[in-house]
Amino acid sequence: MQIRAERPEEVDEIRSLTTAAFRDMLYSSQTEAAIVDALRDAGALTISLVAVQDGGVVGHVAFSAVTISDGSNGWYGLGPVSVRPDQQRKGIGQALIHKGLELLQHIGAQGCVVLGDPGYYSRFGFRSELCGKLGDGGSGGVL
Ligand SMILES: CC(C)(COP(=O)(O)OP(=O)(O)OC[C@H]1O[C@@H](n2cnc3c(N)ncnc32)[C@H](O)[C@@H]1OP(=O)(O)O)[C@@H](O)C(=O)NCCC(=O)NCCS
Repeated sequence: MQIRAERPEEVDEIRSLTTAAFRDMLYSSQTEAAIVDALRDAGALTISLVAVQDGGVVGHVAFSAVTISDGSNGWYGLGPVSVRPDQQRKGIGQALIHKGLELLQHIGAQGCVVLGDPGYYSRFGFRSELCGKLGDGGSGGVL
């Protein structure tokens, strides 16, 4: 499996993958694929990584800049993140998120927020708090 930046010709595949991954998720508003498209169209998709296996896209993660209410700069939001249903629970999601957080550090990000299950995201260093900084022992920020 290879993790790398998305390519223009993979946009349709990413849309299908995202739709499939969230299709049966009760917490989903079924808008995740449209959110990825909208971020890309707005030039706001700071990091968009795909996991490629046997020539096909099996996973995707997006990171985009967010505004923090206290005016802090350099914060990003993780999501949506999707893994093809038949390829879930094999470490692809974790690999995508780890790589994305590493790239955020490279571009000097101050922190990252995510809205999701603490049971999953806490393994990356995210904490259910009001703030957190990249590189201070963890790799995440608020949930
Ligand atoms: C969430 C998702 C991206 C995780 O990717 P993945 O490749 O399946 O997960 P990984 O193999 O990297 O990680 C597996 C681990 O995460 C746990 N896990 C997977 N999905 C989880 C979830 N929704 N909640 C809690 N834990 C979860 C597994 O139990 C496993 O834990 P273990 O290693 O201790 O056994 C993927 O399941 C997915 O696309 N889900 C549907 C879309 C979605 O819900 N996206 C996230 C919205 S916040």
